[in-house]
Amino acid sequence: TVLITGCSSGIGLQLAVQLAHDPRQRYQVIATMRDLKKKEELEAAAGKALGQTLTVAQLDVCRDESVAACLSGHLGGEVDVLVNNAGIGQIGPIESISLDEMQKVFETNFFGVVRTIKAILPGMKQRRSGHIVVVSSVMGLQGVVFNDLYAASKFAIEGFCESLAVQLLQFNIFISMVEPGPVNTKFEAKLMDEISRSEFPGTDLDTIHYFKDIYLPASREIFMTMGQSPQTVAQAIAHVIDLEQPPFRTQTNLLYTPLTALKYADPSGTLSVRTFYRLLFNYGALFRLSLCCLRCVTCNCF
Ligand SMILES: NC(=O)c1ccc[n+]([C@@H]2O[C@H](COP(=O)([O-])OP(=O)(O)OC[C@H]3O[C@@H](n4cnc5c(N)ncnc54)[C@H](OP(=O)(O)O)[C@@H]3O)[C@@H](O)[C@H]2O)c1
Repeated sequence: TVLITGCSSGIGLQLAVQLAHDPRQRYQVIATMRDLKKKEELEAAAGKALGQTLTVAQLDVCRDESVAACLSGHLGGEVDVLVNNAGIGQIGPIESISLDEMQKVFETNFFGVVRTIKAILPGMKQRRSGHIVVVSSVMGLQGVVFNDLYAASKFAIEGFCESLAVQLLQFNIFISMVEPGPVNTKFEAKLMDEISRSEFPGTDLDTIHYFKDIYLPASREIFMTMGQSPQTVAQAIAHVIDLEQPPFRTQTNLLYTPLTALKYADPSGTLSVRTFYRLLFNYGALFRLSLCCLRCVTCNCF
């Protein structure tokens, strides 16, 4: 049994459908979402698998009762693979974001994952087997300008899981972090929608200019050039689930790997911080040109 959180759209939806359609019929998928009114898209994509290898259930990762009800109602607590996919984003200058809004990001991306793992762990430990997959992000490895809180929440869950992974090997339970780069789902559109309504209270004009006129266009180009489809990311997750000895980390996007590697090339952090700074603020033209070249060499013409 595989339980996936956040299946109303994007990566979660695609993963649920892919696993439910596995030709070996290897998986019973519990595809969960916090709001069951959004289940139509998933049900339509599941087709014949619905009610056979795929069941839809309610689960809000931010609520203890919801997690407990889902586990007791559907599974008697028996989950072999837990995929923590539910997540929210946040972008913008920190001066314009209230602490309440910031905490929501941690409530979902960090405590939501912790809550679900905590609920599922006793059963896995008892059975001495299990696999916990967390959809993290390359931003859990490398901070990205104007994504401060989102990156922090993913760094936090990386630290939590890296610590837990060591303990759990003793119980034959594996943890895998899947770290996508940009993915073309509703995720980015939701952020853009929020930003379009913000007047950035408390933020100086220079910062608003850097955010709107430099960061946002660069971010759009990055999504256009490097953005993966949710299907591709779901395939990478399905592959990790299938492995007997799954790795702790999997980056799904080879194009992004050089950027995360900068950090490991220079442990002082200067190389990565300065490179990102120069790419964004000093060598914008060169940055756009390299993205253009990347688009050409990865367009599948060759
Ligand atoms: N898109 C990217 O560029 C990207 C890159 C790297 C990593 N990721 C990660 O990939 C994961 C999936 O994102 P996505 O791109 O597929 O975006 P998405 O289409 O926005 O999906 C996010 C899912 O999380 C759900 N969710 C949010 N809060 C929840 C809660 N409290 N309880 C249960 N479900 C909740 C959403 O449900 P509602 O419909 O109810 O809001 C939605 O189903 C996230 O963890 C994200 O951080 C995304």
